[in-house]
Amino acid sequence: MTVLQEQATTSAIEFASRDEISALQLERLRWSLQHAYDNVPHYRASFDAAGVHPSELKDLKDLAKYPLTTKADLRQNYPFGMFAVPQHEVARIHASSGTTGRPTVVGYTAKDLDNWADLVARSMRAGGVRPGDKVHVAYGYGLFTGGLGAHYGAERLGATVIPMSGGMTDRQIQLIEDFRPDAIMVTPSYMLTIIDAMIKKGIDPASTSLRNGVFGAEPWTEQMRTEIEQQVGIDAVDIYGLSEIMGPGVAMECVESKDGLHIWEDHFYPEIIDPITGEVLPDGEEGELVFTSLTKEALPVIRYRTRDLTRLLPGTARSMRRMQKVTGRTDDMIILRGVNLFPTQIEELILNVPALAPQFQCVLDRPGRMDTLTVRVEARPDVPTGLRAPAGDALQKLIKNRIGVTVAVEVIDPSGLERSLGKARRLIDNRPD
Ligand code: DLL
Repeated sequence: MTVLQEQATTSAIEFASRDEISALQLERLRWSLQHAYDNVPHYRASFDAAGVHPSELKDLKDLAKYPLTTKADLRQNYPFGMFAVPQHEVARIHASSGTTGRPTVVGYTAKDLDNWADLVARSMRAGGVRPGDKVHVAYGYGLFTGGLGAHYGAERLGATVIPMSGGMTDRQIQLIEDFRPDAIMVTPSYMLTIIDAMIKKGIDPASTSLRNGVFGAEPWTEQMRTEIEQQVGIDAVDIYGLSEIMGPGVAMECVESKDGLHIWEDHFYPEIIDPITGEVLPDGEEGELVFTSLTKEALPVIRYRTRDLTRLLPGTARSMRRMQKVTGRTDDMIILRGVNLFPTQIEELILNVPALAPQFQCVLDRPGRMDTLTVRVEARPDVPTGLRAPAGDALQKLIKNRIGVTVAVEVIDPSGLERSLGKARRLIDNRPD
């Protein structure tokens, strides 16, 4: 498709000039700050404490003066204290469970839901899904934003939705075989589970009707993209989002470029900060992604710290800025004898060793005074047992050479690790508190 044909079927704002985007952002940002200040006691108190008022925002850069918001702020205002509209105007609630404590609760007005469906439809369109396609949604339905977010976006695009939800892997495979979907929306780790289960049943994953996969909700690497694309014979594209900001569809990779995710900057204003000092970093530098919502009514969020690490890059296939594929969350960073590393770096190296499958866990222990990291990784099914130890040695060397730390590698039987049905758990921390 030529750029002109592409533009004819997408919304004009996706190709707007930088000046147009900035002007729209400034106008919407002013509204959003005022809306939060007028209707959410938390924001009024935090702005007042920092000595800033919404009327002081003259330029987009002025946003740096306003206080940051964290997950703890949402938890402290559990369940509905951060909502900016009366309850009867809240059309839907979602929540993310997290690992401990109270869930984070988010709400949407009818207008918010309408924008969300538009943005997921825009994302799917950018990712290569077309009106009339059959879309198999295997993100979990329920309080998680993945299933329903993808669902209404697919409907808005004009696709035929198959609302499968997560789990029941045999059933997933049966429906993929019988209903012949064009696209699948699922976490990349659950896609691997589906691929494995197909192979076990004697089904060639490349023989299905699928031609497009919209994968997100967890970090995944370029190497994983290649693995999935080759095994299934599809285009695999990355979709990003978080419940606090909306859900899936905050940023999306374009199928024609696969070069990072365009942030839908007409609705979300991104900043990158130094995670330690909180200082705003220039585009191109890696740090923690921070978002301010520009149009959200029920739950405006001002400078929300996502904990996701990435960098901002200029637009390519769309004029809005891109974020590089997420390296990991600050919470998932392993500090091993002074070296920082992320499970995604391990994934990347595992996929450089042909005998190893991308099913792995990073296990942290503290047997004495020093922390140790053991990478438990499965051998590929067709690999003779005698080749496992050399594959483990090869991975250990790669990790030592590329990341600079010594880890133990345990190569285990194929299917030896528990399979992901949603977001994979890559990090097991057995260290005493
Ligand atoms: O995971 C929303 C979502 C659903 C996105 C389906 C994409 C597809 P939460 O459960 O609130 O929302 O988790 C948000 O997941 O802060 C990231 O750490 C991580 N995450 C989401 N998408 C990606 C991605 C949904 N494409 C948290 N790459 C975020 C890396 C991702 N990490």
